[in-house]
Amino acid sequence: MTEIAGTRTGGPALPQERRLVTEVPGPRSRELLARRAEHVAAGVGTVLPVFVEAAGGGVILDVDGNSLIDLASGIAVTGVGNAAPEVVDRVIEQVQAFTHTCFMVAPYDGYVEVCERLAELTPGTHAKKSALFNSGAEAVENAVKIARSATGRMAVGVFDHAYHGRTNLTMAMTAKNMPYKHRFGPFAGEVYRAPTSYPFREPAPISGAEAAGRAIDVLDKQAGASNLAAVVIEPILGEGGFVVPEDGFLPRLREWTEANGIVMIADEIQTGFCRTGDWFACDHEGVVPDLVTTAKGMAGGLPLAAVTGRAEIMDAVHVGGLGGTYGGNPVACAAALGAIEAMRTHDLCGAARRLGEVMRERLAAVRKAHTCVGDIRGRGAMTAVEIVGTDGHTPEPVRAGSISSYCHSQGVVTLTCGTYGNVLRFLPPLVMSTELLHDAFDVVAAAFDATA
Ligand SMILES: Cc1ncc(COP(=O)(O)O)c(C=O)c1O
Repeated sequence: MTEIAGTRTGGPALPQERRLVTEVPGPRSRELLARRAEHVAAGVGTVLPVFVEAAGGGVILDVDGNSLIDLASGIAVTGVGNAAPEVVDRVIEQVQAFTHTCFMVAPYDGYVEVCERLAELTPGTHAKKSALFNSGAEAVENAVKIARSATGRMAVGVFDHAYHGRTNLTMAMTAKNMPYKHRFGPFAGEVYRAPTSYPFREPAPISGAEAAGRAIDVLDKQAGASNLAAVVIEPILGEGGFVVPEDGFLPRLREWTEANGIVMIADEIQTGFCRTGDWFACDHEGVVPDLVTTAKGMAGGLPLAAVTGRAEIMDAVHVGGLGGTYGGNPVACAAALGAIEAMRTHDLCGAARRLGEVMRERLAAVRKAHTCVGDIRGRGAMTAVEIVGTDGHTPEPVRAGSISSYCHSQGVVTLTCGTYGNVLRFLPPLVMSTELLHDAFDVVAAAFDATA
């Protein structure tokens, strides 16, 4: 193993500061990058050119001793902070007790307890049940299986700019070709795509209800309402660019799906677990979907995903029709119980709202000096800025990439996203202090100046 600097103990006790002691990447990261290039498949991309030694709170410590501010949370996963004590304690206890029996062979209480928490926390007060899986894509696939089994129908409605994963069905459900689908077909059939509500890119203002009507029209004409098993929607687009639909879009869709016996599946894999300032993004408008898919923020970094929903829909599947060797692994369940405890104890929904206000204020100040800021959007600690040309419209992915790379070089971890690759997105751990966030946004502001 390569010798690495410093300590391997992460968690919130790490000094919460940005500190560069080498250039980024430093010599040890460069050495590991070379080994990576030799042994890791090229198709697995990496955003940040540094290797991680430890992480906690709002920082990532690299193998050269640099402390970087984390505005990514491992793509909206470590909302509770990396190596959060509530997660670490429960994981240690569980790993010492047993690591795996397979819930389908010999069950354990952690799985049941996670399902109980999901029933409490997801939108709606109706009777709910859950099934646990390993990844977001697997949860989405299973939500579709459940909806098909419950309705006896096959068609699935999805939306422009959607991202649902990298398995065959979820690639079919995902909108963007490059990099997710290119040369990977043929894809699963019976997937119908409708326009979404993308306020910044509408040719003319259109209300949420009108945008929903436009989508309903497409789905009804192309699939037929009576053939649709499910409509699957991200309440705020994740990889598609943090697009928040106009108010009224989700409620109108909910009305239509309910009236036509279509299972409404909210994909809350990126938006869930306090990220948007509510437990789930659907809560914002009081929308109660039939099924909710979750993953990412739920388990503090361990792989766990779920489908949660109306008991009668969840129970439509025959015994043995759902499951998997590792789904609801006891260590991942212990981590989720610790993470949920941390979200409740530290009011991370409130924290997400406060961080969001700071980010939007800072971005509004950047906008005054930079016309490339086309749109500032998001909700809570899921905030983004869309970068455009001088016409105020044309996507500028190269500029977005340069801003992001500048941030990396100065010790701030940022991500891009969006159908056009021109959206800078900010997903800080929800436990980050506002002081640290301000320091990160000093760098973000400087990045706009440096790349102008
Ligand atoms: C909304 C949404 N659905 C599904 C997925 C797929 O999750 P996973 O990468 O865990 O398979 C993602 C991942 O980014 C996502 O953001």
